Amino acid sequence: MSKTTAAITAVGGYVPKFVLTNNMLEDMVDTNDEWIISRTGIKERRVLKPEEGQGTSYLAIKAAEDLIQKKNIDPKEIDLVIIATATPDSMVASTAAFVASEIGAVNAFAYDLLAACSSFLFGMSTAASYIESGRYKKVLLIGADKMSSIIDYTDRTTCIIFGDGAGAALFEPNEEGLGLQDEYLRADGTGRQFLGMDAGGSLMPATEETVKNRKHFIYQEGRTVFKFAVSNMANVAETIMKRNNLEHTDVSWLVPHQANKRIIDATANRMGLEDSKVLMNIERYGNTTSATLPLLLADFESQMKKGDNLVFAAFGGGFTWGSIYLKWAY
Ligand SMILES: CC(C)(COP(=O)(O)OP(=O)(O)OC[C@H]1O[C@@H](n2cnc3c(N)ncnc32)[C@H](O)[C@@H]1OP(=O)(O)O)[C@@H](O)C(=O)NCCC(=O)NCCS
Repeated sequence: MSKTTAAITAVGGYVPKFVLTNNMLEDMVDTNDEWIISRTGIKERRVLKPEEGQGTSYLAIKAAEDLIQKKNIDPKEIDLVIIATATPDSMVASTAAFVASEIGAVNAFAYDLLAACSSFLFGMSTAASYIESGRYKKVLLIGADKMSSIIDYTDRTTCIIFGDGAGAALFEPNEEGLGLQDEYLRADGTGRQFLGMDAGGSLMPATEETVKNRKHFIYQEGRTVFKFAVSNMANVAETIMKRNNLEHTDVSWLVPHQANKRIIDATANRMGLEDSKVLMNIERYGNTTSATLPLLLADFESQMKKGDNLVFAAFGGGFTWGSIYLKWAY
């Protein structure tokens, strides 16, 4: 009997309507369009405006609804909803539980998975494991982040990079050997000083001081993070290729986390891939944290063919990073 693998059988995506361009940022902080494009590759990003009064769940629901409508599935059949995110609606209550109820996945259990920009990648491993074990048949993994809720729009080192968005992928059993083939996932907690948000958690609960000192916003030591990201993303992608005897000609698509075009280019170079195989939408969305990978799948779905070899690679706060090799199933 052939081994059951976990395949992605449908994807969906959503970004808010409001477009925050580099030119608009020029009026907010000391920066310019040319610097942002040349250092990051970003031209614009989407923002869920505060006056809309919505959290990350809103983005996640829209992405899930897009998937459900395209695939024409009954949400009651979904066994599990995982929300990969760094910006849950609130502490304590699971954002995924709310999303599951709102989309009609009334028979599912649901929880959030936090691993910064690697949340979706690690979530793929989790979703696939449930399917491979035979325990569940339909796992909906949603990567969603309202990064604008933790961005300081007076800090030019972060506000130019991040945007809001969500993407969803459905994992189901496959008997043809398609779906997730291999993974190499890593973490190094010494990195937390270089990228994160100091206050709002149990270590530094909210006080007047934390608000006054802008501790509820994300910070990053860009240069240090860049160095770690650029070498580690390339390393894990190379490891996955070697372990699976993949030559550059065997790889159909690189699906890289969208943090900085220069990091993506370096990863693709190490893998020996030409530009046409590298999925990219950073110029339109910036870094949407947990949503970058599934948004790429949603944007480029029409170009993928059954049996295509996809190599995912991501790097994020924590530090967390890794690579996954997956065969496209439709
Ligand atoms: C943030 C990032 C784009 C900055 O680019 P960089 O080339 O490293 O830029 P540096 O931080 O070295 O700064 C270079 C100069 O540009 C300036 N600068 C920084 N932000 C700027 C901005 N938005 N506009 C104009 N100038 C800016 C700096 O002050 C610095 O000036 P100085 O040389 O006079 O000190 C880059 O470091 C990066 O992408 N880091 C990793 C991001 C990432 O992967 N995040 C984690 C994964 S989620």
